[in-house]
Amino acid sequence: MKFDSPAGTNPIDRKQAVGRALPRIDGPLKTTGLAPYAYEHHREVPNAAYGAIVGAGVAKGTIRSIDTSAARAAPGVLAIVTAQDAGKLGKGKMNTVKLLAGPSVDHYHQAVAVVVAETFEQARAAAALVRVDYARTKGRFDLDDALKTARPAPGDDGEARVGSFESAYAAAPVKLDAEYTTPDHTHAMMEPFASIAAWNGDALTVWTSNQMIDWGRGDLATTLGIPKDKVTVLSPYVGGGFGGKLFLRADAVLAALGAKAAKRPVKLAMSRPMMANNATHRPATRQRIRLGATRDGMLTAIGHESGSGDQPDGGPEAAVNQTKLLYAGANRLAAMRLAVLDLPEGNAMRAPGEAPGMMALEIAIDEMAEKLGMDPVAFRIKNDTQVDPAEPTKRFSQRQLVRCLTDGADRFGWAKRNTKPGQVRDGKWLIGMGVAAAFRNHVNMTSGARVQLSQDGRVTVETDMTDIGTGSYTIIAQTAAEMLGVPVDAVEVRLGNSSYPVSAGSGGQWGAANATAGVYAACVKLREQVAQRLGLGTDAVFAEGRVTGGGRTVALRDAAAQGPLSAEDKIEFGDFSKQYQFATFGAHFVEVAVDAYTGVTRLRRMLAVCAAGRIINPISARSQVIGAMTMGVGSALMEELAVDKRFGLFVNHDLASYEVPVHADIPHQEVVFLDEADDKANPMKAKGVGELGLCGVGAAVANAIYNATGVRVRDYPITLDKYLDRLPAIV
Ligand code: MOS
Repeated sequence: MKFDSPAGTNPIDRKQAVGRALPRIDGPLKTTGLAPYAYEHHREVPNAAYGAIVGAGVAKGTIRSIDTSAARAAPGVLAIVTAQDAGKLGKGKMNTVKLLAGPSVDHYHQAVAVVVAETFEQARAAAALVRVDYARTKGRFDLDDALKTARPAPGDDGEARVGSFESAYAAAPVKLDAEYTTPDHTHAMMEPFASIAAWNGDALTVWTSNQMIDWGRGDLATTLGIPKDKVTVLSPYVGGGFGGKLFLRADAVLAALGAKAAKRPVKLAMSRPMMANNATHRPATRQRIRLGATRDGMLTAIGHESGSGDQPDGGPEAAVNQTKLLYAGANRLAAMRLAVLDLPEGNAMRAPGEAPGMMALEIAIDEMAEKLGMDPVAFRIKNDTQVDPAEPTKRFSQRQLVRCLTDGADRFGWAKRNTKPGQVRDGKWLIGMGVAAAFRNHVNMTSGARVQLSQDGRVTVETDMTDIGTGSYTIIAQTAAEMLGVPVDAVEVRLGNSSYPVSAGSGGQWGAANATAGVYAACVKLREQVAQRLGLGTDAVFAEGRVTGGGRTVALRDAAAQGPLSAEDKIEFGDFSKQYQFATFGAHFVEVAVDAYTGVTRLRRMLAVCAAGRIINPISARSQVIGAMTMGVGSALMEELAVDKRFGLFVNHDLASYEVPVHADIPHQEVVFLDEADDKANPMKAKGVGELGLCGVGAAVANAIYNATGVRVRDYPITLDKYLDRLPAIV
């Protein structure tokens, strides 16, 4: 189905199943431990051996030799594979560096070998016996140093201009020029990278934990140098990914290589301490924001420059992109520099670009509002735009930022905020409120599905879409139930299998809206078949297990009396969708309490008001947003990979030293969705929502700390060492 004009009234608008607050249908499987994750397919693969990765002990250099003799002689060892005996390996399209190093080493903990043994303990013990002799060379590990000679990021990322930024900025009566930093982050998802690989002749099956089945399948085939149709990828349940599992990673490749060498299926889970350095991470940024405004608060110049680093051939953390779209302003500069670093590969982490970009931009907006003597909510509203400022004929398909801000301010009691910082006390606590806009683009993606109606009237949906903890199973069941007029529990959803039609997959908050639109398309085809089989018109109505058309009502299952009906289709987007700018909007409000004596910051209340098109399921959408808000608190107050600039590694590569919020850190969270249906987006009239919940949260926390204390911290995470000596005097 080509989506080439706004969606008219369609069956989804009935909202019998779609839009209902339905608990996730896979919940019982997950809470009872019966949902099989990648490492747990014991029944399908009863005889798997265990793989353990040997990670590079240097960040940059060459492998002179590898001595595996002690490891090979260790108990239970079945095989050891290094780049020398792996045969010729390719590199996946989505991978920046090779997943098995040799002879060159590109970063610390890049895999240099896999050891396969009878048991997990034997594999791990033998991996520790592999001796690698490296010729270590000097690497580039210091972002600030590397940025001094960094080049503009390639292509459009390098620099985008509207009007004349420099002259408008110079002429502006009120100016802000400030620098902000965000550190490297690791995804820290619960389920580690894990795979089981089994060969059957030249055909490979991999149970893995991956967000994008088709990307993973293609890159695994490329890496191993085998045809794509010889690779089956299965990822029915994923215990979190946050962008870390968008791509093929070493666990899948090394399980496959190990299984080939050992002539046994191999299961391999990456150890937690290896994840931060072996896999990808969100790159640190150095951001400079310059704002110029008239005295009455109209932005006239908006400049946002960001620098980040990555491996050669890598990409920038696109922290300036939202700044092109979020506020009006005739003169604009958005630019990025990309330094070469020999740290582990940077790549997408939840809301890549916007998450760290909004952490900076939305502090700058708060600072500018204060300079202008304006309320930060009013300042944002005054500079709203309904069009892409660079292309004023291109309107946002829908944009309710202003309502998110005003509704949020009302609900949160924003009027009670003391505009003068450091004034509100509650015993030993300094109390403050902060606000930030939320913005995240919505992406249209081709997405396919197959839907089957069986003789008993049950419906089965198959798509390679993944459920990474997001609720895909549930919203897809709701979509098919709505389209075919059956109860949700009459729908069986099968996901995460490369033999099913290729979907949008899970990433960039594009999963829910596009995958359900693909199911919609397949259901439209199935409805046509049903109507034809039953001799009903094309305008037949599907409801309550029956189909009504031309004055007749027939049981849906009768259409399958002679045998099951099956239909496959995909949603595709053409030029029509290029006429609009698609984005999702929100407002984050935060109240904090800062201990006047110790500087400890505690969150008290959080509110997110979101405008993100039709909400397919308010429970799963809310869960996404509160999870994102929690992640935002982590990035505001705790999360930071510490770089060892001498040896080129992330030092705090486990959950004991890379801090993420725990329940006790998270206060009352409220999420409100505005009632929206975006008919330009897709037939579901839905857009992304998961990452919107993160974008802006960090700045709202930072702004609240400023309001509480009068101390502005521009370097994340906002740990108390950065402000303790500047807190208001106690007596
Ligand atoms: Mo998201 S960072 O695209 O999984």
